[in-house]
Amino acid sequence: MSALLTSLLILSFFSTITSLSSKYYEKTCPNVESLVRKSVRDATTNDKKVPAALLRMHFHDCFIRGCDASVLLDSKGKNTAEKDGPPNVSLHAFFVIDNAKKAVESACPGIVSCADILALAARDAVVLSGGPSWVVPKGRKDGRTSKASETIQLPAPTFNISQLQQSFALRGLSLEDLVALSGGHTLGFSHCSSFKNRIHNFNATTDVDPSINPSFAASLKSTCQANNNEKNAGAPMDPSSTSFDNIYYKLIFQQKTLFSSDQALLDSPKTKRLATKLATSEDAFRKAFVKSMIKMSSITGGQEVRKKCNVVN
Ligand code: HEM
Ligand SMILES: *[C@@H]1O[C@H](CO)[C@@H](O)[C@H](O)[C@H]1NC(C)=O
Ligand SMILES: *[C@@H]1O[C@H](CO)[C@@H](O)[C@H](O)[C@H]1NC(C)=O
Ligand SMILES: *[C@@H]1O[C@H](CO)[C@@H](O)[C@H](O)[C@H]1NC(C)=O
Repeated sequence: MSALLTSLLILSFFSTITSLSSKYYEKTCPNVESLVRKSVRDATTNDKKVPAALLRMHFHDCFIRGCDASVLLDSKGKNTAEKDGPPNVSLHAFFVIDNAKKAVESACPGIVSCADILALAARDAVVLSGGPSWVVPKGRKDGRTSKASETIQLPAPTFNISQLQQSFALRGLSLEDLVALSGGHTLGFSHCSSFKNRIHNFNATTDVDPSINPSFAASLKSTCQANNNEKNAGAPMDPSSTSFDNIYYKLIFQQKTLFSSDQALLDSPKTKRLATKLATSEDAFRKAFVKSMIKMSSITGGQEVRKKCNVVN
């Protein structure tokens, strides 16, 4: 019953119909794409961790209240925003969006939403990492609400295949989308806290999750000690964590991915078939990723074009 209620609530957030268009700013802000690209490129030159951060930020944004830049709002007064909710460890590089917004505001004030800037930045981040490019549909609006408590709506790294399927289905996303978008884990880094449950006290009788390759588990254990963990310790999502490639899928078959939610892609015949296809063809991965990114980034939800991305108008 409460699961049903949550489902209905989540769906109602996403019911706002906003139609997006690739030419949305053609007349009103023709340079928006190059301005955003420049901000992402400049930041990436200084810090190779930026692209992964932007890709994850866009995913978080879209999964809570639709892609409405709710993830960018600061906590204010008694309201704790998404940014300060529990899964915030991986969210960083907000300054890239703020810089892009400044550049865009001086070229075309009051026209371009922060949600669109984030969608463009995520695409640019993938391209800068050697991934595919695509035309981003635009015309999203920014929302006025951001609540830390709603971050529990994000899928957790402990999720099994049916929980993952349900989380994606609530947003109109299929198992194809789940498998393709999980490939975002070709980029970036995870803190020990996100996978520690698999390598220490997995359950009452087993210390290490038997679905992890033993030598990989041993190396994770040495990085992430049971106690006195350094807060910033962790592991790259894949060994080539700044390059967008299909190695992530090969790692799932070697049982060398960080999360149960990654390994779970082999637990249903359909997702296993899809993961096999993406592991064997880089080109199939690039095409599938583009298709699903456009779908995910078209979940809309906001009402206004914010003047500054971290505060409502
Ligand atoms: C399928 C459900 C998903 C789960 C359970 C999940 C979970 C996680 C977790 C736990 C982390 C590590 C956080 C940390 O400890 O720092 C992470 C990182 C990341 N995720 Fe996911 N994720 C999912 C889907 C996605 C999707 C759809 C994308 C984008 C298309 C994505 C992109 C990323 C990226 C790029 C990072 C690295 C962030 C960085 O290095 O700053 N994830 N994810
Ligand atoms: C992350 O959220 C916690 C509360 O869940 C908060 O104490 C912490 O300051 C936040 N960290 C960042 C970097 O925002
Ligand atoms: C997944 O987890 C949920 C919640 O713990 C559980 O009810 C369900 O049976 C699990 N499904 C599978 C396929 O393991
Ligand atoms: C612990 O996990 C192992 C491996 O998945 C499983 O075989 C075992 O039944 C589990 N034990 C308990 C007490 O849940």
